[in-house]
Amino acid sequence: MSDEKDVARLKEEAARRAVTYVEDGMIVGLGTGSTARFMIAALGERVKNEGLRIEAIATSEASDVQARELGIPMTDFAAHSVFDIGIDGADEVERGTLELVKGLGGALLREKIVASACRRFVVIVDESKLVDRLGTHAPLPVEVVPWGWERAARLLAETGAQAAKPRMVRDKLFVTDNSNLILDCHYPGIDDPAALSRAILAITGVVDHGLFLGMTSEVLVAGTGGVQRLVP
Ligand code: 5RP
Repeated sequence: MSDEKDVARLKEEAARRAVTYVEDGMIVGLGTGSTARFMIAALGERVKNEGLRIEAIATSEASDVQARELGIPMTDFAAHSVFDIGIDGADEVERGTLELVKGLGGALLREKIVASACRRFVVIVDESKLVDRLGTHAPLPVEVVPWGWERAARLLAETGAQAAKPRMVRDKLFVTDNSNLILDCHYPGIDDPAALSRAILAITGVVDHGLFLGMTSEVLVAGTGGVQRLVP
């Protein structure tokens, strides 16, 4: 089996475990990314095969389309301010603190809004996402309004980012579901995530960033030895 298939299998294992937490009547926040895709697929199976009665809210247009295609009933913030459980992937999980970097899939803003509205926020990853220090394996994505993004990028560099470059996809600026841009910021490790969070949010034009601090209820980490449950 190729490495890629191994990683996909691990992501699916973590995703399937998280879906066992979902119970009849729950309002569920659906994450974004390849691991979240497995989770939405598994949830769709339960809705179809077991008649599980839930409502869900998606953190991206892509997850919303997938969930609707699977027949998962969808809801929104007009109906609810608090959700029972949110399940989402991550790009980095710091061992010990379980603080996160998210947003490589470009959905950090809606993911953070939904995560902050969930009573329980469950993170699903394969073991390659565990790091000793945030910022060492993945860039920190920062969502900015398009107008004046160059200034925001220069100010982000002053927070210690070695490069704060707009994300490009096929030679075009990547535009989020919220019509904003993503600046991928490369830090040589993040020693004080809370201080960095404050510094980034103080830049006018920044909408939010991919540091998810104090939000994790638990992490399900799939590795060769099975799925491990980590709690803060
Ligand atoms: C999207 C995210 C994803 O959860 C994160 O990028 C992990 O993705 P994957 O499960 O594909 O590794 O934050 O904005």
